[in-house]
Amino acid sequence: MLGSALGAALRAKGVEPVVLDLPEFDLCRESDLADAVRISCVVINCAAYTNVDGAESEPELALAVNAHAVGVLGRLAAAQRVKVLHVSTDFVFDGMGEGPYSETDEPRPLSVYGAGKLAGERFLAASGCEHLMVRLQWTYGAGGANFITKCVTRGRESRELRVVSDQVGSPTWTRDAAAALIDLLGTGQAGLFHYAARGYAGRSEVAAFALGRLGVDCRVIPCPTDEFPTPARRPLNSRFNCDKVDEVLGRPRPTWQDSLSEFLDSMREGAD
Ligand SMILES: NC(=O)c1ccc[n+]([C@@H]2O[C@H](COP(=O)([O-])OP(=O)(O)OC[C@H]3O[C@@H](n4cnc5c(N)ncnc54)[C@H](OP(=O)(O)O)[C@@H]3O)[C@@H](O)[C@H]2O)c1
Repeated sequence: MLGSALGAALRAKGVEPVVLDLPEFDLCRESDLADAVRISCVVINCAAYTNVDGAESEPELALAVNAHAVGVLGRLAAAQRVKVLHVSTDFVFDGMGEGPYSETDEPRPLSVYGAGKLAGERFLAASGCEHLMVRLQWTYGAGGANFITKCVTRGRESRELRVVSDQVGSPTWTRDAAAALIDLLGTGQAGLFHYAARGYAGRSEVAAFALGRLGVDCRVIPCPTDEFPTPARRPLNSRFNCDKVDEVLGRPRPTWQDSLSEFLDSMREGAD
């Protein structure tokens, strides 16, 4: 999902990226990584094992992709003096903190997925390569199933939808995230950044907003996370403090409502 948005954003700027994906390219095959690094000046890693619940029953694979492969990438990139832009997640936090999480807050993942992504961050940081790491959250966009598209599909199938209200964060359009990643790269910055749309909401509020915008006749009923037991625990507080990225980029991030409206309008136009 994010990789497609990044490819489109780069092409719009006249840059033709080399896009590598399964099955031809496997992040876990060191020779594939070595070939990728050899032909690059910057490697942007959007690949990940992203099945959060699946990771609980496939921890070896999740850790191989999200942690060990990222460390190998970093080591190869360091040797070739290639910069790595790596994408991580709010799931590195346990979500029990009161306020929005900043880059200096101590991560404490609740799930195998979160632990793997955190290990990937740490392996990359220790590899010695020049790197930029950006944690994203609640992303949606074209080219993949996500919370928004699932809500819209289910909302069109029923008159009522129960959605958790106690998970709070910022739904973030991959288009906006891709633009921020490219601009961050352009600044020459290194290190860890948080990026999300501006403003916070519970998931049920986001679902109601999306269905309302599309005129879907479905009532959203807020409920607690406990009502939906899942193999992986999710952080309740996913709010990011994005002051660092705001300062570096020097422009306001779009609000989640503005971006989501634009995305939903583009979906509607696509369906016409
Ligand atoms: N989605 C979110 O809400 C969210 C939130 C925060 C951060 N992130 C992070 O954002 C990044 C992009 O995620 P996304 O939302 O775009 O997820 P996505 O749509 O699932 O994309 C992940 C891509 O990685 C590929 N992949 C998996 N294992 C691979 C391997 N061994 N070698 C090469 N490619 C492999 C997948 O291929 P297949 O499809 O063929 O498996 C898929 O194309 C990830 O780092 C993720 O952790 C996502």
